[in-house]
Amino acid sequence: MKRIEFFRHNIDRADRARVSQVLQSIFLTTGSVVQEFEEEFSHYLGLGSTIGVTSCTAGLHLSLVALGIGPGDEVITTPMSFCATANAVLHAGAKPVFVDVEEETGNLNAGLLESRLSKKTLAIIPVHLYGQMCDMKKIRSLANRYRLKIVEDAAHAIEAARDGVGVGHLADIACFSFYATKNITSGEGGAVSTNSIRTASFLRMLRLHGIDRGAAERYTKHYQHWDMPVLGWKYNMDNIQAALLIGQLERIDGLWKKRDKLWRLYENELQSIKGIRVLKTLPGAKHARHLFTVLVPPAKRDLILRTLQKKGIGVAVNYQPIHLLTFYRNTFGYKNGDYPVAEDIGKRTISLPLYPSLKESDVKYVVKILRESLHG
Ligand SMILES: Cc1ncc(COP(=O)(O)O)c(C=O)c1O
Repeated sequence: MKRIEFFRHNIDRADRARVSQVLQSIFLTTGSVVQEFEEEFSHYLGLGSTIGVTSCTAGLHLSLVALGIGPGDEVITTPMSFCATANAVLHAGAKPVFVDVEEETGNLNAGLLESRLSKKTLAIIPVHLYGQMCDMKKIRSLANRYRLKIVEDAAHAIEAARDGVGVGHLADIACFSFYATKNITSGEGGAVSTNSIRTASFLRMLRLHGIDRGAAERYTKHYQHWDMPVLGWKYNMDNIQAALLIGQLERIDGLWKKRDKLWRLYENELQSIKGIRVLKTLPGAKHARHLFTVLVPPAKRDLILRTLQKKGIGVAVNYQPIHLLTFYRNTFGYKNGDYPVAEDIGKRTISLPLYPSLKESDVKYVVKILRESLHG
């Protein structure tokens, strides 16, 4: 049977050689290779500093802590994201407060933000869903008015821009994921980027227990005693992860172009199918083309998922809205109907395979099976 994986990474021979070099060196943990990746990632984004961490979840957690957010505070975010986004707020000791999303894009509805503010609100986490940025200009101007911090969840959106603004440029900190299915990946991994030198050096301490010198500094230079001025976590990226990422980052624009082409082919092929909707790419947006999702009638969604799987096509659901997950229902009393637009997307959505090595004929096959399972 034909098999079309949901995702295939792009790690090539040069990436493997770079990892092999690290494995043959003495230094496996955070060192010069991480530093090289951090510098190149900052350069790609046009931001001042990057700190490599073990995951985007860790990055979100540290970012909130670094910005002084903790118990008693509220952080506004979207229910249409992976649970990691809201979990990180809880890890920091604060409370996540949701606003509903836009029907057109699935992104946090910036027009509803003001209605959810309270005296306890200290920050907003916009999530650039599937790779398309939220309305950062609107969110920044609201944040300025109410003195709120912004941490972007850019797990899907390294390559994105909107209205001439790149990812992280209007935020205090932006967080990225290099999880196994992301646009560039080290299996697990993440990064936080910021233009603030003070925040960057605080984040650097927080990712390694709160101590003020990394192992590389202690080992490769003359021995330096270290101190632990604050309590931090063990979230430091290692040289092996960084070695996997450096080459992918060099190729990132070419990889994006291939996904963009496949995305447009999906859109074209799907146009003629009644009952299927594709979320909109807004004018002025450079979409990072991370997850290609379609919205199908809710009553047919699970059947379509199973049919695609039976035909050998990898699928996913991005996402079930966070507020309806058992923990969130039980802890905060959320119920059906609280965020109707996110819930509607959650009942309809199916993510289809999308990655640079996917063939055009694969896209056509996926659409054929989708058409048959919807109308057959
Ligand atoms: C939108 C979003 N935020 C955060 C995360 C968490 O990323 P990580 O697995 O690197 O912690 C993910 C991962 O899938 C995600 O999709």
